[in-house]
Amino acid sequence: MPTNPFSITSYLAIKKEVIDIHLKKIFGTRIHDLQQLIESIHYSLLANGKRIRPIVCLATYEAFGNNSTHAIQIAASLELIHCYSLMQDDLPCMDDDDLRRGNPTNHKQFGEAAALLASDALQTEAFNQIASCPYFDAEIKIECIKLLSHGSGYHGMVGGQVLDLFYEAKDIPLDKLKTLHTLKTGKLIEASVLIGATLAGKDAKTKEHLAHFGQSIGLAFQIKDDVLDIEGSKKIGKDQKSDIAKEKTTFPKLLGLEASKIESKECLRIAIDSLRKIDADTTILEKIAEFIIQRDY
Ligand code: IPE
Ligand code: IPE
Ligand code: MG
Ligand code: MG
Ligand code: MG
Repeated sequence: MPTNPFSITSYLAIKKEVIDIHLKKIFGTRIHDLQQLIESIHYSLLANGKRIRPIVCLATYEAFGNNSTHAIQIAASLELIHCYSLMQDDLPCMDDDDLRRGNPTNHKQFGEAAALLASDALQTEAFNQIASCPYFDAEIKIECIKLLSHGSGYHGMVGGQVLDLFYEAKDIPLDKLKTLHTLKTGKLIEASVLIGATLAGKDAKTKEHLAHFGQSIGLAFQIKDDVLDIEGSKKIGKDQKSDIAKEKTTFPKLLGLEASKIESKECLRIAIDSLRKIDADTTILEKIAEFIIQRDY
């Protein structure tokens, strides 16, 4: 009897479903006058995102032979941070976009103050999700909180978003663009991998190789995002050619489309090379890395 070949599409769909089930439960309690806040939160959080950051976290944890059921709540924290970053990224003071995950952006639907406050609530809840997880030792959870804070704040996403705005309409060299992409997108993806490895109780050397893996797929992720801004179809669910309109400094702007695609393939090669150095079943992580550069949404 032939065995079914592994399908990354099915794996991503199954994991997205379990993460979505958890996300739906987080903001359950309704105080009547907070109805609009919950609506605004659910509008963005439960919209159709890929959930790639929590999935990367769970896949890393599973690569060491673990069943990821107990890790879902902690993985969800990555999606909460990511979703907050998207809501703020779309605001008129930032990218000023009208479409996200196939729907009008949160501020278009609920107004700027509501979008800002809902995104704040997502951010703070992310840390609570880790702290209040009934599984895993306190030291492990503290380490996860540190990793999430590092990947999302001054040293990571927020720093990158500041550079993104600062570099608008400027000519910058490739190394600065790589730093921008590494911070605004790479660091949270690296944190996703490292949180998975921390939950699995892995040693420093293994985490070092996984950090390189996370950095490479993180950079590849943003290069692909830049490429999709130009080449993507309606399937991306956001305003097309938004980067061009805002004079963003992107990989295609600096290198052209073809060289950007070559760069993302090089990131994939480095990522897979890093995986080869660890003692784990990395098949799924490899497939996720390939998905990141091949995806069309
Ligand atoms: C888009 O992220 C923003 C970036 C950091 C590049 P995703 O492409 O993961 O967006 P969703 O979560 O699937 O909507
Ligand atoms: C996303 O960069 C960075 C974030 C931290 C949200 P982009 O501004 O390119 O993301 P999209 O294309 O709007 O999703
Ligand atoms: Mg942006
Ligand atoms: Mg944007
Ligand atoms: Mg983009």
